[in-house]
Amino acid sequence: MIKKEGAYYPANEFRKAAQFNDESVYNTAQKDPVKFWEKLARQLFWRKTWTKAFVHRPPYFQWFVGGKLNITENCLERNLPRNKDKVALIWEPELLDEKPRHLTYGELFWEVGRCANALKSLGVKKGDRVGIYLPMIPEVMISMLACARIGAIHSVVFSAFSPQALKVRLQDTRAKVLITADGYYRRGQVISLKAAADEALADTQIKKVVVVKRVGQEVAWRKGRDFWWPDLLAKAKAQCSPVAMDSEDPLFILYTSGSTGKPKGCVHTNGGYAVQSLWTGKWIFDFGDKDVFWCTADVGWVTGHTYGIYSPLLNGATSLMFEGAPDFPEPDRWCQIIEKHRVTIFYTAPTAIRMFARYEHFVKKHDLTSLRLLGSVGEPIDEAAWYWYFKNVGHEKCPIVDTWWQTETGGILITSLPGLGPFKPGFTGRPFPGVKTDILDDQGKPCPIDKKGNLVIRSPFSPGLLRNIYKNPKKYLETYWTRYGQKIYFTSDGALRDKHGLIRIIGRVDDVIKVAGHRISTGELENAVNKHPLVSECAVVGIPDKIKGEVPVIFAVSAEAPAKADLPALKQTIIDQIKKEIGPIALPKELYLVEDLPKTRSGKIMRRILKRLFTDEDLGDLSTLSNPEIVEKIKKIIVR
Ligand code: PRX
Repeated sequence: MIKKEGAYYPANEFRKAAQFNDESVYNTAQKDPVKFWEKLARQLFWRKTWTKAFVHRPPYFQWFVGGKLNITENCLERNLPRNKDKVALIWEPELLDEKPRHLTYGELFWEVGRCANALKSLGVKKGDRVGIYLPMIPEVMISMLACARIGAIHSVVFSAFSPQALKVRLQDTRAKVLITADGYYRRGQVISLKAAADEALADTQIKKVVVVKRVGQEVAWRKGRDFWWPDLLAKAKAQCSPVAMDSEDPLFILYTSGSTGKPKGCVHTNGGYAVQSLWTGKWIFDFGDKDVFWCTADVGWVTGHTYGIYSPLLNGATSLMFEGAPDFPEPDRWCQIIEKHRVTIFYTAPTAIRMFARYEHFVKKHDLTSLRLLGSVGEPIDEAAWYWYFKNVGHEKCPIVDTWWQTETGGILITSLPGLGPFKPGFTGRPFPGVKTDILDDQGKPCPIDKKGNLVIRSPFSPGLLRNIYKNPKKYLETYWTRYGQKIYFTSDGALRDKHGLIRIIGRVDDVIKVAGHRISTGELENAVNKHPLVSECAVVGIPDKIKGEVPVIFAVSAEAPAKADLPALKQTIIDQIKKEIGPIALPKELYLVEDLPKTRSGKIMRRILKRLFTDEDLGDLSTLSNPEIVEKIKKIIVR
């Protein structure tokens, strides 16, 4: 790596060999983004070419209108002539004594065909929604592709989400089939997933459940509704023709947290998403013939969808999927995996990096020299974590691509490209070629250099940006297309730009917090806590955390204050309530039972003040509160 003015640039050999190393592409793309994306789109296999590349009717827009394709034909058949025997998926199980699985492109093709026919035999048709509640096992990749093959819309729900969280999502999509597993391994425990799924199914439209056998445990069974995956697939033919999908037909719905209590179903379409996934992967991860790419994100999140599944497959690359936790049974499990499978490109979140850094001595025991490129995603990466990653994992020879994007954007939109750089700690980089971003002040004027503002995306947007919130166009309009009008996409992130045009992401400007890179809305957590019969009101705020970036802290007011001795029991039942409604990822760092919350005279809860109690920031003017005395009382009980 070459160092210049506080930033790094790729070494000459790296630059020369990179898939992207031509600075002039940025300018060409900027001049005519639509033409640029059209050129990239032609690399895919289309059953029918589009008639119009981009149509904009604010707040809606479309890409490759009239075009027809099937994304799985592009992931599979398009790769078969050259890569039939190339490994598409390396699966590493959690159990150390179990063998990894390798699926070639040829094998994946047949498995997907079989699964697609099995889904058809259960009555799944184009446009139907299929829920997928699976852990990190090969069947999750097969299921998603099988849905896409026949035009069904998959909606993957993170396997650590609670039955209640699954239910809400299944109800919203009105899925009629659910694919799940008997259970899975996590930190040495068997997690009973089928039991959790069963609990979610009442009051949903699910008619059939397909169950993968992963752990071989006994499960409750409903005849006529439940089907074992192996039985169903054994009966299915392997040959399944792909359905030609309209470019704008939905490919998947993925739920994410917003400012309110209810998760939003982001709708992603076939054509634009495929184009963006193919090219962001090719240029940002520089996929070459021999690369082994490991994206550590769970498939239940968008990173797992795009860079665990679709992007590597569209590029004919080898993707590694790991079932377990990166630090189990020892903190160096992730290093073992890199060493064992000779991983060349490693993509993870700053939280994981900060955790790995605590066990530096473990890292030093392993040979990580197969690595040639590193990535970061999901939350801002602080300089200390950046340098640690750069020195100890990449040995100062691997570029670090800090990639900014969202569930809504479908793929990476801001980063430095590895063949060009610069890689500057604290800055994600430049907009991907063909993407127009801006940083605006509250009045909608572009911010000068180094001044913080709101990050927005301008027309023609990016082909993979969400097209709607499932069955909720009002929410779509309000969330993304109101802050600066219907022609500018509002990201809800604060950002600034330096004099070289590099972007620093400051963080969310709404009520979303990023806990270990996971997106959680304080409103959703408040909703869950407020459902507890003894809680009359509550406030949730995100506070800084050394490892997880941010963590939630809850202030709850109890309707009938119980005796002091009963308080721990009350706290526990509130925690149980959160587990039930959302799942363990939303558990707070602290839960404080308080007698009141700071409020304005009009009754608005001042969360900002509660948040500041955990930092050294000035509390501001308390005189506008109706109950300023409560701030002092709360201050006395909090632990910093
Ligand atoms: O605040 C930004 C942060 O994560 C949010 C999107 O979260 P989610 O939809 O869960 O998708 C995460 C993975 C794509 C953004 O609004 N974020 C994402 N990447 C970065 C980031 N913040 C800083 N730097 C990043 N590289």
